[in-house]
Amino acid sequence: MTETLTVRDNRTGQEYEVPIVDGAIKAADLGKIREGDDAPGLAVYDPGFTNTASCRSAVTYIDGDKGILEYRGYPIEQLAEKSNFLEVAYLLVHGELPTKEQYDSWVHEITYHTFVHENIKEFMQGFRYDAHPMGMLMASVGALSTFYPDAGEIGDAENRHMQIVRMIAKMPTLGAWSFRHAQGKPFVYPDNDLGYTANFMSMLFKMSEQKYVADERLVKALDVLFILHADHEQNCSANAVRSVGSSQVDPYSAVAAGVGALYGPLHGGANEAVLRMLKRIGSKDKIPAFIEGVKNGDERLMGFGHRVYKNYDPRAKIIKKACDDVFEVTGVNPLLEIAQELEKIALEDEYFVKRKLYPNVDFYSGLIYEAFQFPPEMFTVLFAIGRTPGWLAQWNELVQDKEQKIARPKQIYIGARGLDFTPASERWS
Ligand code: SDX
Repeated sequence: MTETLTVRDNRTGQEYEVPIVDGAIKAADLGKIREGDDAPGLAVYDPGFTNTASCRSAVTYIDGDKGILEYRGYPIEQLAEKSNFLEVAYLLVHGELPTKEQYDSWVHEITYHTFVHENIKEFMQGFRYDAHPMGMLMASVGALSTFYPDAGEIGDAENRHMQIVRMIAKMPTLGAWSFRHAQGKPFVYPDNDLGYTANFMSMLFKMSEQKYVADERLVKALDVLFILHADHEQNCSANAVRSVGSSQVDPYSAVAAGVGALYGPLHGGANEAVLRMLKRIGSKDKIPAFIEGVKNGDERLMGFGHRVYKNYDPRAKIIKKACDDVFEVTGVNPLLEIAQELEKIALEDEYFVKRKLYPNVDFYSGLIYEAFQFPPEMFTVLFAIGRTPGWLAQWNELVQDKEQKIARPKQIYIGARGLDFTPASERWS
């Protein structure tokens, strides 16, 4: 059996042999199919890229039907249980697990790059008191590109490494300072004696005490959440990072675009939207009415559904377990009962079953974040900190991929053509 597609263009009666490689055909091969010599070649129309591969990648593998997620070939369940976030970040960026020397050097570099230029502090203090932390994070990540003008030298591997280290190191500082600004509290500087996630918690919650000591169980739970959010192949924000990165701009500007995409309620903003949805439902007896609203299209069941997973999101299973560990420390979040009942009803209801809508990564994560005393507007900042190594791994792969070009899709033009312009003086007289 030959790995080709035989396409017959019924407009011309011509047949074309289109090679199938890795389960895909090249859109450029369809471009050779024309109605006449000077007619445009066939294009592929695919809003939201629901069935379009934009790149070859070795970073993350997902099987949506089987609910499989692997980072560089390692199952997410094993990484969440046995690894830690900085080791997973190394794996994503470098493509393999680190030796002890590599790991120690990686941790040292990141630990000693957590500070940001003092001007960033003044920059962040310029936001309104009620500025959304994701807007602050997006702006401050983009602003970092002005502090490292050499970051545009993306062809230099050492330079790319330096910017990758800086961004992974500084994201928690920027995220914590966005939180402190919104709380009207003084910014807390990084404490290099602490591990990555413990240091993040210190910058978030330290007040007048000499040293902030986080509960180890909470540090572990947050570290696992960062691992679960670390990458997810060509999701909306990774696509934004790649698209902006394809112009060969510096990685800070590309990641700022990723933060912007993640901000949306259909993507990373869903964890915040889930909490607001659960609070709006308020009690278990209100769930049937809410479900009816979803079926009528008046509501969306936030935290459910996924472009790829048509089965339970493997991350949601792990997060659900992490809930128990966190609630052991903080006490059970009363909204958990509503979430569990909502999940139970949805998983049995034909509307959701038919559409293969299952809980995704955002359905339970918000319950944990709220148990940490984070306000809902901080949830997506936590998602962004976790996703940073994934964005950078995708960007690093893009800039070294010889097949990649600047992202510039086609369109199907449906507007007016060939109009004669009448100057305003005649139009309005
Ligand atoms: C993330 O891509 C990634 O990998 C993302 C992510 C990552 O790690 O980067 O996994 C993180 O973004 C998770 C998703 C978080 N978003 C939400 O929880 C928001 C609620 N879910 C959706 O809006 C929706 O499910 C999407 C955006 C996640 C996926 O949308 P698709 O693939 O474009 O599917 P669709 O909107 O075309 O929906 C198909 C059908 C539609 O019904 P019909 O028009 O066929 O009648 O399912 C319905 C939709 O109306 N539907 C929902 C629904 N999600 C889809 N109906 C009710 N509630 C929902 N949540």
